[in-house]
Amino acid sequence: MQVHKYDVVIVGAGGAGMRAAIESGQRARTAVLTKLYPTRSHTGAAQGGMCAALANVEEDNWEWHTFDTIKGGDYLVDQDAAEVMAKEAIDAVLDLEKMGLPFNRTPEGRIDQRRFGGHTRDHGKAPVRRSCYAADRTGHMILQTLYQNCVKHNVEFYNEFYVLDLLMVDEEVDGELNRRVAGVVAYDLASGELHVFQAKSVVFATGGSGKVFKTTSNAHTLTGDGMGIAYRRGIPLEDMEFFQFHPTGLAGLGILLSEAARGEGGILRNADGERFMERYAPTIKDLAPRDIVARSMANEVREGRGAGPNKDYVLLDLTHLEPEHIDAKLPDITEFARTYLGVEPYNEPVPVFPTAHYNMGGIPTNISAEVLQTNESTIPGLYAAGEVACVSVHGSNRLGTNSLLDINVFGKRAGIAAAEYSQTAEFVDLPEDPESYTATLLDAVRGSEGTERVGAIRKELQETMDTNVQVFRTADTLKKAVGDIDALKERYMRITVQDKGKRYNLDLLEAVELGILLDLARVTTAAALHRKESRGGHYREDFPDRDDENFMEHSMAYLDPAATEADVPGIRLATKPVEFTRYKPMERKY
Ligand code: FUM
Repeated sequence: MQVHKYDVVIVGAGGAGMRAAIESGQRARTAVLTKLYPTRSHTGAAQGGMCAALANVEEDNWEWHTFDTIKGGDYLVDQDAAEVMAKEAIDAVLDLEKMGLPFNRTPEGRIDQRRFGGHTRDHGKAPVRRSCYAADRTGHMILQTLYQNCVKHNVEFYNEFYVLDLLMVDEEVDGELNRRVAGVVAYDLASGELHVFQAKSVVFATGGSGKVFKTTSNAHTLTGDGMGIAYRRGIPLEDMEFFQFHPTGLAGLGILLSEAARGEGGILRNADGERFMERYAPTIKDLAPRDIVARSMANEVREGRGAGPNKDYVLLDLTHLEPEHIDAKLPDITEFARTYLGVEPYNEPVPVFPTAHYNMGGIPTNISAEVLQTNESTIPGLYAAGEVACVSVHGSNRLGTNSLLDINVFGKRAGIAAAEYSQTAEFVDLPEDPESYTATLLDAVRGSEGTERVGAIRKELQETMDTNVQVFRTADTLKKAVGDIDALKERYMRITVQDKGKRYNLDLLEAVELGILLDLARVTTAAALHRKESRGGHYREDFPDRDDENFMEHSMAYLDPAATEADVPGIRLATKPVEFTRYKPMERKY
């Protein structure tokens, strides 16, 4: 085992992690640990843009952006956080521009802006052009730009280091027991060795857990590692029932077709060619927030108006757009349609259906990216930002382009806060045998002598989540999912890992990831069972109305073996108040 010592350790090298590293690296000795090569992080798959009320092409302001974010999140958004994000959005875009990001430009040379779902002029009157973009590869450009700037600032990367544990010690301060961060433990894929990183501050920026689902826009690596590690160490997970289904995945595959396609004028049609969103969101139609569009599409299909031989998808129609416009603004996604479905978007509509896309919930933080241990207390030295975190700017439904914004605004805040904390804090002594938990975990998985296959369990987990924890849910489907997950967890105790070796043992990695996915699927489902209302991305057919009286609160799920919650034992579900500043919850119509 090797031991390293840094002021700040950042776990994850996507947009949030690298944005944090750029700040932290200029202020404190910083290491970034990532289970991938940095530029393979999933931020690179984000397509349509990053919003900010620059007002480059039409009137706009940060207050409208704040309002849209809060209404888009069905009023479960912490309004102080949304305000911070919308205000700081403008500098966040300009920071990236100064770092060299090649945004699309207006003829006058300003950063161009396009329409996106739920972003409106003057509190919902019409769609507004707020998304700053680089064709349909904005995330890719952000990732490359941030990586180049990390290199420029001499950030130290530990690539293919899979962090598996968060080290914390309990200290008595003024008669109270406080947790403080001591570091992390990582498994070096190349050598198979464990490394302990002692650090004054740790920032989690590991992304989401989309791989609990089968049909997803998420890459194979999106296994919720940071959430899983925090949860296993007693940190609550907030609002996990809110998982976003992006309306336009390529039908049957889930590959993302950016909402920018509708921002550029694309139209959703059912089998009869009807522009059905006119019925569901008469004012902004195809540019309604994602939860509404995804549900409308699923509804068209279940009411028999789906297209295709099995009537199981709807159509994204770009055929009225000029091919030159498509090529300039949507080159990648139209190529995906050609490559994966053999459809030519110039003259054929593209089959699409909702695809699991984004965790609104995650590790709870305040607006300084400090991680909460309880509703009132933080864990000194521990920070989280990006999809792994829940600040909560997205509430029960995120608006498109607010994720690339979130990683930049709160990534930057996390990096500054972590570095500043490290300048005054002392290192916390490492616990005795700091690697023992991780070594035991890996030995148990590697040494397991059962017959169950990791791939089979993962497939069944994803299938039950796709079937039972979908756009539409009921108590019955959710209970079925919990039963299935528990049976799979039991089988997980009897897996076999074929590769018993040390170096590049991807079998072992995937087995460990599966353990985390099972935990997170269980939390997601438990929280969904608990929330007996419909709000944003969580639609309970047995409780179809929003219920502000009983559920205008965040859910907080704690791992607690003693908890005897009737439906899902072992998970204690508590609540946290929503922060209101200026907007009263209203009926959500578009
Ligand atoms: O549709 C998209 O381009 C995805 C963007 C996002 O999730 O923010």
